[in-house]
Amino acid sequence: MSNIVTIPEEAAGQNLLHYLRGKGIGLPAACGGRGVCGKCRVRLLSGELSLKPDPDGSILACQAFCTENGAVISVPDSDGTGLTDFASRASQSDSADLSGIARLGAALDIGTTTLAMALVDLDSGKVLRTVSALNPQRSYGADVMTRITSAKQGDLQNLQDVLLKSVRALLLQLTEGLAGDTSPELLIATGNTTMLHLFLGISPEGMGQYPFTPAFTDIQTRTGAELDLPIGKVLTMPCASAFIGADIVGGALVSGFGETDDTPRLLLDIGTNGEMILSANGKLYAASTAAGPALEGANISCGVGGIPGAVDHVSLAMRDGRQTVTYTTIGGKEPIGLCGCGLIDLCALLLLTGELDMTGRLASPYTIPGTPVTLDQADIRQVQLAKSAVAAGILALTDSAETTPDAISQVKIAGGLGFYLNTQSAFAIGLLPPDLGRNIESIGNSALHSACVCLTDPAKLESARQIASACKVIELNLSPVFNEAFIDNMLFGNEEDEE
Ligand code: FES
Repeated sequence: MSNIVTIPEEAAGQNLLHYLRGKGIGLPAACGGRGVCGKCRVRLLSGELSLKPDPDGSILACQAFCTENGAVISVPDSDGTGLTDFASRASQSDSADLSGIARLGAALDIGTTTLAMALVDLDSGKVLRTVSALNPQRSYGADVMTRITSAKQGDLQNLQDVLLKSVRALLLQLTEGLAGDTSPELLIATGNTTMLHLFLGISPEGMGQYPFTPAFTDIQTRTGAELDLPIGKVLTMPCASAFIGADIVGGALVSGFGETDDTPRLLLDIGTNGEMILSANGKLYAASTAAGPALEGANISCGVGGIPGAVDHVSLAMRDGRQTVTYTTIGGKEPIGLCGCGLIDLCALLLLTGELDMTGRLASPYTIPGTPVTLDQADIRQVQLAKSAVAAGILALTDSAETTPDAISQVKIAGGLGFYLNTQSAFAIGLLPPDLGRNIESIGNSALHSACVCLTDPAKLESARQIASACKVIELNLSPVFNEAFIDNMLFGNEEDEE
């Protein structure tokens, strides 16, 4: 689906991406407007822009300027790939009768890619409704670093504004149909450290360069009025450092990592930054590894987020006596691209069939039969960087805790990727070290869950704060183990996994 937008003559001289943002049309812009990701493509239908379109009529909005001749362009729908459907699907998933509920709270998880919000009955602790939407800030860049750069270059207020606008819309969706004027009295927000800075309109600039200093890590309190939100009080969950955010701290909270336990347990949240907390020897060790956005579908030519139509599983099956590639898509829709789980599956499959070798050389670009989804050599290199960063991070973290991956008795994987991840494929491509304990559990959106828990139990918020301050943060860029393991793990899989 696409929208037709008329660019008036008065817009002459404005960058097209910025013009569209100003009109509330959020295009994906994974590279932050540097002209390298190709995600901001629009189609010129008539008129003129400062650049000539490609032969197929498309043009990168971030590189084009409006002209005094005006133009008519076609823009992919609001999320570039079907947000509306995704958001409404989520909101309808658990509607509930809200009559008779006196005190309401809201939990908000500000993901770099996705926003999720839950309405909670403060008396019973029950989650009544959930809604989600893509983070509108993605038109300023896919990852935290490009958002920090945007904020530094003068877009801090805009980044906060677009986010708060979406939060207001989500609140409206959550409270639709409530009797009287009952509205949530408390909102607890969580997310990575940069997202919480942007939510509060505080500059994240200090986290853009060494020594990566956040303006705050502890719980922050605001009134709803200060953020122009229709809510009494707003709290943010505590973070441990610039790159160990409240999201993973919350995951550790609901995983019981704060309790004294000598059994090594690992919590992983694999996104643009692979965040991890290891509980071992009665201590907590944390690290964040720059995995890059490949495993979230960005920086991959056919990559998309976890949205309807995203290929989420690929496998081999026997059909009519022949080995055939089969796939599934989110929502059972027509395939439009690969999300992180589909990407991991497809790489594992290509390794199995020999079309991808251990060094990462792809015999030729591969198209999933019957789909427009094609993986090329440059995509494979992005996967190698991402999976190596995660595996090396786990190895460096266990080394710092003087333990080994095989001693880890329980692995919990948080986030959307964890939910759909085929762990066999993750081991096959070497995203997870081969000797890591195989007791692996997906815990879904543990960040949102932790905010829900804290809404009704203030003692839990204090426990989260204790976890955040107890985390010994390992600087992977200074770790020789990480650097060595990163190079070693660039190869795909190992002989064991080839069986
Ligand atoms: S190519 Fe335009 S935002 Fe990346």
